[in-house]
Amino acid sequence: MDSFIIKGPSKISGCAEISGSKNSALPIIFSTILTEQKCEIKNVPQLSDIKSSFDILSYIGKNCFYSLNTFISDEKHRLKTEAPYDMVRKMRASVLVSGPLLARFGHVKFAMPGGCAIGVRPIDIHLDGFKKMGANIEFEQGYVILKAKKLKPTSLSLKFPSVGATENLMMAAAITNGCTIINNAAKEPEIVDLARVLNLMGAKIEGAGTDRVKINGCKKLKGFNYKVMSDRIEAGTFLILCAACGGELEVKNINPEIISILIEKLKESGAELVIEKDCIKIKSPKKIKPVSISTGPYPEFPTDLQAQWMAYMCLAKGSSNIIESIFENRFMHAAELMRMGADIKIKHNKAIINGVDKLIGAPVMASDLRAGAALLIGAAAAFGESIVKRIYHIDRGYEKIEEKMRAIGVNIKRIKE
Ligand code: UD1
Repeated sequence: MDSFIIKGPSKISGCAEISGSKNSALPIIFSTILTEQKCEIKNVPQLSDIKSSFDILSYIGKNCFYSLNTFISDEKHRLKTEAPYDMVRKMRASVLVSGPLLARFGHVKFAMPGGCAIGVRPIDIHLDGFKKMGANIEFEQGYVILKAKKLKPTSLSLKFPSVGATENLMMAAAITNGCTIINNAAKEPEIVDLARVLNLMGAKIEGAGTDRVKINGCKKLKGFNYKVMSDRIEAGTFLILCAACGGELEVKNINPEIISILIEKLKESGAELVIEKDCIKIKSPKKIKPVSISTGPYPEFPTDLQAQWMAYMCLAKGSSNIIESIFENRFMHAAELMRMGADIKIKHNKAIINGVDKLIGAPVMASDLRAGAALLIGAAAAFGESIVKRIYHIDRGYEKIEEKMRAIGVNIKRIKE
């Protein structure tokens, strides 16, 4: 298992180029199941989660090719409609095989994804949607079996705007003749990216990015050629890293509109930001002001930047709060930051952070992807040496992270143990 050794404190300068979005690339890769034609996806980040989706597609019989940020798939034989536990457990987003396989072949059997470090993460919203579209649901020894000769277009309302459920249902509806409406849909930018792809494939989708998505599906979908949007969470992580460590950074290749809540909060904390078309320049605050946040569905503060914000607030001059409203157990990074000298109290879904003058390097352990990112920020800002263990979590979602951090002034080294 690899670890990172980081020697801080770091002074940030230079430029970080943002990669393609993991959370956009994954559903787009799964959408290729909807057609036997050739699909070419560009700007796909090289990450272990993308490799997991490649393995699942290959397992069900897709002919896949993935190299240098390009993912290509086509089909030579009829696909299998099963996704086994060993594949699904590696990555929860694997549940996105279910909508396309069910809608195209009338059947899918896939392993229940199970919980993970940040929470229970059920899939009831996905299943309720498929049921509403006419699917029959059975459970068998840890597997879900969905059957429907033909899904029917319908109007449905999600009990919570789940990102994954919105994507899964959009994909199923895209290949279902007629008009399906998803009310209380997730509004994340990644939903808009997926809708663009489904439109290229021949569906007609309106309202993606709002809470009412209307999908006019058709029986047969075409191949496509598409470039995935940039990763707003990676961009946010780099902005927070600079604000926490001190220095100046240019974050390139990101549409600032999709992280406007973070930009607002960074400004409140005293950072200076210059916003350009595809670039954000940040100058760190002289003194970090405490700024409280509450996570929520887009356009609210993303839960995927909550841990990084906590690492930043550990160094603020005063006390701030974080309320985590999306996942029930997403404060695992707090205890690790406390090993670096942070002062954090957790009460249910609320964290109270009393800023300290400095963090001190320590051995710490990543419990999940974004917790890992928070520890990288803490370690880069801290005085002395830190070892961040279990960085396979970080490799799931940050492309070439150590190269990018090293280029902007962080003393970071990967070691194999
Ligand atoms: C996606 C992102 C993840 C991000 C999350 C919230 C991908 C690959 N992952 O995950 O990085 O943190 O959105 O922005 O895009 N829920 C249910 N039942 C369901 C589905 C979800 O109760 O059927 C709950 C979840 O447990 C969670 C909340 O709804 O508490 C949000 O989950 P959801 O929006 O579905 O997140 P994901 O799509 O899994």
